[in-house]
Amino acid sequence: MNTLQAVEYISGKLHFIDQTKLPLEEVKIVTDNLERIAVAIERLEVRGAPAIGVTAAYALAIAVSKANSKDYAQVFEDAFKRLARTRPTAVNLFYALDEMKKTFEESKARQNLSEILLQKALSIHEEDKRLCTSIASNGLEVFKKKSRVLTHCHTGALATGGNGTALNIIRTAFENGLVEHVYADETRPLFQGSRLTAWELDKLGIPFSFNTDSTAAVLMQQGKVDLVITGADRIAANGDSANKIGTYNLAVLCYHHKIPFYIAAPSTTIDKACRSGSEIKIELRSNLELTQVRGTQITKENYPAYCPAFDVTPNNLITAIITEIGVHKPPFNF
Ligand code: MRU
Repeated sequence: MNTLQAVEYISGKLHFIDQTKLPLEEVKIVTDNLERIAVAIERLEVRGAPAIGVTAAYALAIAVSKANSKDYAQVFEDAFKRLARTRPTAVNLFYALDEMKKTFEESKARQNLSEILLQKALSIHEEDKRLCTSIASNGLEVFKKKSRVLTHCHTGALATGGNGTALNIIRTAFENGLVEHVYADETRPLFQGSRLTAWELDKLGIPFSFNTDSTAAVLMQQGKVDLVITGADRIAANGDSANKIGTYNLAVLCYHHKIPFYIAAPSTTIDKACRSGSEIKIELRSNLELTQVRGTQITKENYPAYCPAFDVTPNNLITAIITEIGVHKPPFNF
C-alpha cells in the first residue's frame, strides 16, 4: 500500500506536496497552471526522477484539456518545450514527455484527445507504481543478513509515482526483518536526506540517524555500514549512473572499505542512447543554493562557487543495479 502520494491528479488539477517545505510544514499545492507546474519542478517542490516524469505527463494532459483554441498541436508543443527545459539530467522526464508525444501524434485528430492524453498520463503513473513494487522485491536479494544501510539523497514515495526505489527496498527489507539501522546522508546542498528521507523513515518507524555527507567515511571506517543503496537519475548503457552529487564519493568510499554499493532505479531511468556517463548532461544549480540556506545568507553572495546537482558513478564502482527486471551485475550492457 502507498503511504504517500508525491503527485495526484484529481478533477483536472494536479495535487502535490511542496517538498521544499518538508519536514517542518506539509503544504499541498493544487494547480492546473502549466507555468506553475514547470516552476515547481525547477524549484524542486516536486523532485526525484520518476516523480518529475509523472508530473510532466499530467501537466501535458492538463495543458491540452484547458486549451481554448483548437490549435492543440501548438499548445502541446509549447507545453512540451517548457517542461523539457525544467531539469536536464533525469531521463524519466524525457521518457514521459516522449511517451505523451507519441500518444498525441497518434490521437491528435480524435475528438476525445484530452481524455486519451489523461489516460496515458494515468498509465505512466500506474506503471511507475508497479516498477517501484518490483524493484523492492528484487532488492531483497542483496540483504544477506540484518543490515546497517547507508543511503544518499531521497528515493522514497515522494520521489516517485509509487513507493520509491532505493528507499522502498530498504522499507521492504525492514518489513522482512533485514534492516537494523539506516544512515541517511543529509545531502547537501538541499538536504533531501535530513529533510525528506528522515521524514519518510520516521513515518515508517524504521530506525535511522542522519549525518553530514562527509561523515559517511568515518561510519564505514568504524565498521558500521554493511551496504549502500542509492537511486539514479540517468543510467547509461554501460551502467555509469548519474545521481545526486555526493553519490560518486560514496562509491569510492565503498570500494576502499570493501562495502557493496548498489544503485536502484526503474528501467525508465536507463538511457540506452547514452553510451557512457560522459554523455550525461549534468544540471548546474544556482550558487545561491550554496551561499544561502533556506533564504538565509551564510557566506558572501558574490563568492565563486560550483554547484552541480548530480555526479556520475563509473560502472566499475557499482556492485549491482537493481531494477524491476532483476539484480543486474557487471558487466552492464543495457
Ligand atoms: O535533485 P533531486 O532531488 O531531484 O535529485 C534526486 C535524486 O538524485 C534521486 O536520488 C533520484 O532522482 C532517484 S529518485 C527515486
